[in-house]
Parts: sequence; C-alpha cells; structure tokens
Amino acid sequence: MSKQDSADVHGEQFGVKHIRRVYREGMFEDKTPDFPVSFSDLREEAFEEMSWKAKAYVHGGAGTEETFERNKDFSRWRIIPRMLRGVADRDLSTTVLGNEHSYPLMITPLGVQSLLHDDGEIATARACAEMDVPFVLSSLSSATMEDVAEALGDTPKWFQYYWASDRDVATSFLDRAETAGYDAIVVTVDAPTLGWRDRLLEKGYYPFLEGEGIGNYFSDPAFRDSLARPPEEDPEAAVDRFLSIFGDASLTWDDLAFVREQTDLPIIIKGVLHPDDARRAVEAGADAVQVSTHGGRQVDGSIAAIEALPEIAEAVGDETTVLFDSGIRRGAQAFKALALGADTVLLGRPFAYGLAHSGQEGVEQVLENTLSQIDLTMGLAGIDDVDDIDRSAVRDEASL
Ligand code: FNR
Repeated sequence: MSKQDSADVHGEQFGVKHIRRVYREGMFEDKTPDFPVSFSDLREEAFEEMSWKAKAYVHGGAGTEETFERNKDFSRWRIIPRMLRGVADRDLSTTVLGNEHSYPLMITPLGVQSLLHDDGEIATARACAEMDVPFVLSSLSSATMEDVAEALGDTPKWFQYYWASDRDVATSFLDRAETAGYDAIVVTVDAPTLGWRDRLLEKGYYPFLEGEGIGNYFSDPAFRDSLARPPEEDPEAAVDRFLSIFGDASLTWDDLAFVREQTDLPIIIKGVLHPDDARRAVEAGADAVQVSTHGGRQVDGSIAAIEALPEIAEAVGDETTVLFDSGIRRGAQAFKALALGADTVLLGRPFAYGLAHSGQEGVEQVLENTLSQIDLTMGLAGIDDVDDIDRSAVRDEASL
C-alpha cells in the first residue's frame, strides 16, 4: 500500500477498504492474496525462508515455553460489542508521550533483524515510514541507529536502550540517539542476565558471537576508543569487548537516575510485570511503563503480560502512559490490551515473520492486516475513537 492510500484510508474505514479489495480481487480477478492471511500461515511460510539460526533465535521462549504460549491467550477477556452507535468514521490516532501517532500500534524492539532479511532493520524502518507506524529500534541492531533514523524520516522513532556497564558507551548511546532524532528512550529492565532458551542452547548458537546485531557498538566512538584495534581489524576482540560490557546484573532502581540525568527525552521502562515496580519506575522519573514478558524469553513460568496489565494500569495508568507487548498476533488482541489500560500496543513476532517472508513489503502487509483488524474490531464493537476503548469494552469471563 502506498503512502497516499494509507493517508486516504487512515481514520475512515481502513479495514473495510482492505477486505473489500481482497474480495473484489478474488471474485473478479481470480486472485487470492499472495501474502498469508492468518498468523499461523505466515509463520509457516516465513519458516521456509528462515535459516536454522533465525528460527532458533526468534521462535519460542524460555524453558518450558509456558509463558511464551500463555502470552498469546487473551481469551479470558471477552469483548462486549455495542450496537447502533454510528461508527462510520473511525479515528485510530492517539497521542503517546505528547506525540501524535496515527495508530495505537508500534513495532517492538527486536534485535538482530539481519537474521531475518538482508536489509534487516532498514527494511522494517522503511515499512514503518510507508505505513506511518512508529518504530522502536533495539540497541542490538545490525544497522546503526543513525542509518535507521534516516530510513524512518519523520516517522516517530524510539530507541531501546540496554545500558552497557561501560559508562562512556552508555552515555554515548544516549547522546547519539538524541542527536539522531529519536523521540524517546526505552530502557529494558527484564534482562539482567540471559534467559535459558533450549532452542539456542541445543544449537550452541548465540548470534552476537559471530558479530551479528552489534552495529551500534561497532560504530560507537566510545566503544571503539576502548579497543586496542578497531573492529574491522580485530572483530574477535571487539565481540569479546561487547560481551564483557553488555548487560549489568548489579543495576537497581536508583541507577535509573543516571539515564534520567543523561537525557531530556521521555523514558519508558520496558519489562514491568508487578504494580509495585510500575510505581517504582514512575518514582524514578519514568514517563511510561511497558508491560512485557519480553515475549516469554526471560522468566520461564512468569505471569503472562496480558494477565499483568490490568493491575498495572490501575496502579499507574491515570497519570502515566502504559504500553503493552507480548503475545499480540491479531487486532482483536490489541483491542483487548487497549481496553485493559494500554495507551498503545507493540507488535513483535508477526512483523518479524513478515520481514523474513518478504522484507519491507512483508512488514507492510503485516501492519496493514493488523491495523485493518483493529479498525474492524472497533467498528464492530461500537467504538469510533481509539481513545474511547476502555475497560467497559471487555469483561473478565469469570464475571460473565
Ligand atoms: C525480542 N525482544 C527484545 N526486547 C528488547 O527490549 N530488546 C531487544 O533487543 C529484543 N530482542 C528480541 C529479539 C527477538 C527475536 C524477540 C522475539 C524479542 C522482546 C520484544 O521487544 C517484545 O517484548 C516481544 O517480541 C513481545 O513478544 P511477542 O509478541 O513477539 O511474542
């Protein structure tokens, strides 16, 4: 879909236009969509394109994978549709941290996208620019944050921050993100150590050891200054240095003051699952919290993100922006998360599989399908403004 089309359909019957086009092509042009419609078909076709490395890295979660599986189960929450409410002109736009977003959907930070497609993060960024969907770039990207910012143009962009135990590198990342035009910093707090992931351990595979996903480090002046020889001359030593400064399990809430002092950008704390941690994040100066299980990749057996969301929204949602990811595969799930208190939601694996399937075009297709589903769900539920999706739109099945 071109930007022009996207602008045309934005806000008015986005989803209806999409499905009408598909039906017309099917009935009159004998043409069925060549891009998979359901998530399971998409994943299956993406797997055909993916290397064993990409599959091991992207698919599945920690340990038994029960959190990874449970994340996807939103069925406890039932949408209660309302009728005859005049929903012809639906507005999907919303304001997040003071910025206008065209849709209540963003792309979540997902590392090492070069494993999924040669154009990696640049392809995803171009798709976001085309569709006007905000993008969150992982620290662990193969492309540099500056190149990704350029590909995004004026599309809203956030930078996800893993702060390095080397304070010079940690500071440099924040400076670079601000200079490159990122609008916010997402501090991921749910990865003090690596998770136990059978699928990677079975293969003995860790992408960073072969230099994938560390473009931001290799291009960083402070990181380069800390090396005896530049990464181009001695990549092994550079990877070792990266591994030695990546992650810091000694961090506490008090350390957030460091990030708060270094940047004027809004700060989002990603990976919060307990209401007390959400309150603590706000006390420490965060502008938003992101409810997330990291896609079930960290704590085997943890609460699912959708189970944690209502309590956290209740604890801090009136004053603080609440974001949600983990498990969203369809628009109706996004709708439920918005109803349970999220101000916007972030899409993970579906876009990754779109990228593996057909690069930029694949990501655009995933976004178009998901946005269409959100639009249709809103219309069918009797809501014409994203900002009006609230707790009254869903019921807990236990109360039915
Ligand atoms: C992630 N996630 C992640 N999060 C983050 O803050 N920084 C990162 O670099 C990554 N990298 C990453 C790689 C892969 C392959 C996956 C699947 C996930 C977590 C991500 O932002 C998000 O929380 C999950 O993807 C949400 O789960 P679903 O919806 O994708 O299952």
